[in-house]
Amino acid sequence: MSTELIGKPTDAAWLSGLAKIMSENPEFADAYDALFGAVRLASSRASGNSILVTSAEPGEGKTTVSSCLAIAASLAGQTALLIDGDLRRSSLSAAVGSPDTVGLIEILLGQANAAEVIRPVTLAGSRPAGVFSLMAGGRKSSMSLAAVDWGKARSVFRSISQQFGIVVLDSPPVLAANDALLFAGIVDAVLLVVGAGSADRGEVRRAKEQLDAIGTPNIGAVLNRFEPKLHGRSNQPYRGYYRRSRS
Ligand SMILES: Nc1ncnc2c1ncn2[C@@H]1O[C@H](COP(=O)(O)OP(=O)(O)O)[C@@H](O)[C@H]1O
Ligand SMILES: [Mg+2]
Repeated sequence: MSTELIGKPTDAAWLSGLAKIMSENPEFADAYDALFGAVRLASSRASGNSILVTSAEPGEGKTTVSSCLAIAASLAGQTALLIDGDLRRSSLSAAVGSPDTVGLIEILLGQANAAEVIRPVTLAGSRPAGVFSLMAGGRKSSMSLAAVDWGKARSVFRSISQQFGIVVLDSPPVLAANDALLFAGIVDAVLLVVGAGSADRGEVRRAKEQLDAIGTPNIGAVLNRFEPKLHGRSNQPYRGYYRRSRS
């Protein structure tokens, strides 16, 4: 999947573009169906259905993977909530329109309720789907996280999550800011994105250790931008199978 094809995560059109790619590309859809299945299996064992998507460094694909996971869930008929938890480099928030809309930060501070911050998003051009909703990052900066009562925030976050089939929380990189570690304490599971070819092994290990210390189950890692040809592995024998089974 080339970067030109995906583009930059900036607005609702970007989300619709990802949904379209997923509808038209069986191998891409299959990878995310498998990931969604793994998340569902893990959440049946964990206490709930919310998942934090993070990585060691910027640019490894957190926003892309978060979006695709939530889209795959909604294409599978689930109610999916995607949350822009990157309060420092907010990109998904633009998809809900006005950049100064209330969102996650106001929820965590107890200054807004779910109805004020959750917006349904129409994924144009994709096959009929379940409900896909988005929560923006919010008006306040990440500095306000210092004022959050995390005990209360956890229970509010949980009660919102229970209204959805899956809740995917995008975030900043673990090694760049404390935010992702704070968020790890309010979700039910953590998914680490590792950029194939760009990630540093030591940094990934450090990020994982910091996340493990929070105690929330880590359900695994996604190797993003993996190129089977470059890494000497081909799924060629399954190409015909994918086409036949999905057409
Ligand atoms: N699997 C992929 N194939 C091609 N481009 C990708 C892939 N994953 C991410 N990108 C692109 O790389 C850039 C960074 O991805 P993004 O999801 O914004 O990373 P992060 O949120 O971790 O900073 C974006 O322009 C995105 O479209
Ligand atoms: Mg991002």
